[in-house]
Amino acid sequence: MTIIVTGAAGFIGSNFILNWLRKNNETIINLDNLTYAGNLENLKSVESNPNYKFFQGDISDSKLVTSILLKYKPRAILHFAAESHVDRSLHNPDTFIQTNIIGTYRLLEVARTFYNKLSVKDKKIFRFLHVSTDEVYGSLGAADLAFKETNKYYPNNPYSASKASSDLLVRAWFHTYNLPVLITNCSNNYGPYQFPEKLIPLCIFKALKGEDLPIYGDGQQVRDWLYVIDHCNGITDVLESGRVGETYNIGGYNEKTNLEVVHNLCDLLDELSPRADCKTYREQITFVKDRPAHDLRYAINANKISNELGWMPKDTFESGLRKTVKWYLTNKVWTTNVQSGEYQAWISKNYL
Ligand code: NAD
Ligand code: TYD
Repeated sequence: MTIIVTGAAGFIGSNFILNWLRKNNETIINLDNLTYAGNLENLKSVESNPNYKFFQGDISDSKLVTSILLKYKPRAILHFAAESHVDRSLHNPDTFIQTNIIGTYRLLEVARTFYNKLSVKDKKIFRFLHVSTDEVYGSLGAADLAFKETNKYYPNNPYSASKASSDLLVRAWFHTYNLPVLITNCSNNYGPYQFPEKLIPLCIFKALKGEDLPIYGDGQQVRDWLYVIDHCNGITDVLESGRVGETYNIGGYNEKTNLEVVHNLCDLLDELSPRADCKTYREQITFVKDRPAHDLRYAINANKISNELGWMPKDTFESGLRKTVKWYLTNKVWTTNVQSGEYQAWISKNYL
């Protein structure tokens, strides 16, 4: 059997492949067009694994995707590929519309054509799993209940609007064409191999270089943080046992303000890689101009995936963050290489 994963040279997809190959003896194909966020170094350790194959290409390239589907006849497509950074979507929404909406549409169409030609037996097995985000639900007030799968969509920025649109297309392809889809909406992930534009790796890198740690606004916005491998295991559970046509929220039961997250990070760095002057990294925290349309709070009610599929996060924020900081401190070649090129261009554009 074979599964195809789109966008798996990125942060979550590459963790998914590494986790998958540790546990399964099944071919996994990575289709990724290697944007700035795609990094084949993430997958260096499995490059020569006969169960891993990589194709460089765009999800919108229907000819290429069709040829891969016809050659490998996968039992599932797991769709991770996306433009994923909110701040970039504020500067340049166009690529978000192209990949997240048009790209997902083209992938759905190719999947539909492929699915329609499967035998009755293979149709029963085939799944199209769409990886999405809690940001589609919009912003919560401090006292609001956490997002359930039945919440309405209220996206507030181009990234979340493009993901919301893609979720709706996936849903429609189930109801209209019977494509056996599954959707997951997950909270903020952190862990190894995350591009340092996102809060946690950005602050680790900046802290170690003695630079300011930029907190947008007052730092009181709340996110629910989940260790990336817990997310990958949740996706696997939904793939193997989720009910077709359903959405599953995945979250860490771990709400923290941005300031708390950066305080936790600074404390860990003080312990694991103290500053030469023995002062705390907290001194580098700087409050900067807020992000436009900055959602105040995301929180996930993950009872459905817990009750139906028995999924629960294994890592706490404390254990996950410690593993994460240690990983960035240890993997010097990866961290050095990722900070060349596009990282520098992004920092100049967004922060200077
Ligand atoms: P990422 O930005 O690290 O990686 C995205 C990958 O997709 C990259 O490898 C990139 O090269 C590839 N890609 C982009 N456009 C493509 C295209 N047109 N064709 C083929 N490949 C393309 O993103 P991530 O953080 O790994 O997120 C993966 C998925 O999970 C996304 O769909 C995102 O919306 C979702 N998600 C992310 C988080 C999070 O905290 N990072 C939380 C919930 C959901
Ligand atoms: P981010 O990692 O970009 O994820 P998302 O926007 O998808 O939640 O940001 C997490 C939170 O951290 C978000 O509330 C914005 C905030 N943030 C900062 O305060 N400073 C920064 O430099 C960045 C990148 C994010």
